Amino acid sequence: MGHVSTVILGSGSYAPSRVLTNDELSTVVETSDEWIRTRTGIRERRIAGETELTSDLAVEAARAALADAKLTPTDVDLVIVATVTPDSPMPATACLVQHKLGIRSDVPCFDVNAACTGFIYALDVASAMLNSGRYRCALVIGAEKLSSVVDWRDRTTCVLFGDGAGAVVLGASEQPDVGILGIKLGASGENAALLAIGSTPSDPLFQSSATTERRYLQMKGKEIFKLAVRAMDESARDILEQHKLRADQIALVIPHQANLRIIDAISQYLELPMERFFVNVDRYGNTSAASIPLALDEARRAGRIRAGDISLLVAFGAGLTYGSALIRW
Ligand code: UT7
Repeated sequence: MGHVSTVILGSGSYAPSRVLTNDELSTVVETSDEWIRTRTGIRERRIAGETELTSDLAVEAARAALADAKLTPTDVDLVIVATVTPDSPMPATACLVQHKLGIRSDVPCFDVNAACTGFIYALDVASAMLNSGRYRCALVIGAEKLSSVVDWRDRTTCVLFGDGAGAVVLGASEQPDVGILGIKLGASGENAALLAIGSTPSDPLFQSSATTERRYLQMKGKEIFKLAVRAMDESARDILEQHKLRADQIALVIPHQANLRIIDAISQYLELPMERFFVNVDRYGNTSAASIPLALDEARRAGRIRAGDISLLVAFGAGLTYGSALIRW
């Protein structure tokens, strides 16, 4: 029988045990719990140990997702890791995950870099590969160790980010109108320099002042905030329109968790109450590509998603990338 749709067979997530609170951060940089909470909604974030790598976080999330799907690593025939903090630029973190999990060797393994939109990009790639009929079971992971690229002297960025991982197992279904109903992606590279790890070579904005070291994450927060709200709102509207759905038909929005005020703004623009948005930015901060799969897994485990519900995933990130996905459970 042919492949009709791509469904989520299981999900899992993992966050390092070390909690870094706002109060603790106030001893590192000139900030306060009050400032961080009111400007971002973040109360704490998780920080991986020195020897705990992105691939380790990814493996834990993947194990949980496979257990949830009642499958084993030998069932997997495609591995995609979305990350901007791979263990190293080469090899792909997906290959390290493959090895650590004991996944077969006749399986493609590669990373996707679309920053905070990375998980939605990876879902689209995996879904297209499953649709080809050449693969049956994909492991799609978002994992980040952002603590390794944050400049811990820069209060405008270091309070925002955290470490974590989330994963889903995707499979083919012969049932129509379930699983991934659609995905819409985009990017506006002209704004690439607003959010980067290191400097983008051609852009004067980050042609580093002597004090800015090139390997750190740098962000023009105010500009990014405005672009994030606009792009996520437009992306959500686009995909709803494409699928002839009204916002109130979405049972739960699972947005990228960067800032509670961004989620609030989108809730207002879409005229959908905050109760329809899953929020865990308070406990993890911004975990980039891990943010949506971590939220999705927590939403499922918290009973916020029921059979037949439609969820909307929507994200925005460096690139600047943006995208949305509609999923019927
Ligand atoms: O995942 C990709 C997407 N990323 C994002 O979506 C992040 C988007 N941006 C944001 O979330 C917000 O712009 C921030 C949270 C980064 C900043 O919030 P803001 O309301 O735009 O604040 P601001 O940058 O305008 O800063 C206001 C003031 C400044 O002081 P002055 O110039 O008014 O005297 C900053 O120096 O707050 C100061 N400030 C801080 N104060 C205490 C900046 N960071 C801190 C801090 N603690 N950590």
